[in-house]
Amino acid sequence: MHDTAPTKHGLAAGDHRPDRPDWTIAQGWERYTAAEHGVWKTLFERQSRLLPGRACAEFVRGMAELPLSADQIPNFEELSEVLMQRTGWQVVAVPGLVPDDVFFEHLAHRRFPAGQFIRKPHELDYLEEPDVFHDVFGHVPMLMNPVMAEFIQAYGQGGLRAKQLGVLDQLARVYWYTVEFGLVLEGGAPRIYGAGIVSSSTETRFSVEDDSPNRIGFDLERVMRTRYRIDDFQESYFVLNHLDDLLALAQIDFAPYYQRVTGAAEHEPGDVLASDRMLTRGTGRYHARKRQGAPA
Ligand SMILES: [Fe+2]
Repeated sequence: MHDTAPTKHGLAAGDHRPDRPDWTIAQGWERYTAAEHGVWKTLFERQSRLLPGRACAEFVRGMAELPLSADQIPNFEELSEVLMQRTGWQVVAVPGLVPDDVFFEHLAHRRFPAGQFIRKPHELDYLEEPDVFHDVFGHVPMLMNPVMAEFIQAYGQGGLRAKQLGVLDQLARVYWYTVEFGLVLEGGAPRIYGAGIVSSSTETRFSVEDDSPNRIGFDLERVMRTRYRIDDFQESYFVLNHLDDLLALAQIDFAPYYQRVTGAAEHEPGDVLASDRMLTRGTGRYHARKRQGAPA
């Protein structure tokens, strides 16, 4: 899987299944090697340089207020202490991907399951499961924000319900196009708050600077009907006017939306609709070249 898509939480972690029913494991911080801390440092320094002017202010603020630095892989207990005081969240270690129910149950109780392991030096831009860099660097700064804290908890609660209703795919798209690949306007310009983007050096630039992708005003029903790419950069990003819009999304009843989208036509990742509020109409160049087999 490309590093732009490290969130297939719906798949079970195969043979890493731990003993505890909630799939948590000890982080075992003292067992990280110098080489593993070194991978964190390389990734941390590379991404930190890219954030000014690209990541949204709330992300940058959350990062500055957490015990996170280039020097070492963070200790989840220390992170949780700060997070707990701010928004009531904590970070718990898991071996990798966890089943949907387990994932939703954790989120519904303000526990963020983070991969305990870190990618190998030859996987800096490519990994198969979300690791500690994606999960902590990408997600935890936004969990310091009360609006995101509320939204992700509501997503966990909604996930348990959506599974029973058979509309998990539609709900998962909302998470994908917000928590993972969301952009938000800041001073009229799109800025990143999605963890899948801020934890990828290439997509950090692509999402806000490249002329290839579409940037479309966020619309819940539109997003629920739109497939996404898990193997490459997104063809379309959905842009919030303000992060507070997530609070409204956390509070509304999704049931009527599920009714409307069930059985309705689905949109491909790069589709543009007459009803879309376009911020940028992408050229589509990047994915067109990929489809022709040429290097992008
Ligand atoms: Fe993620």
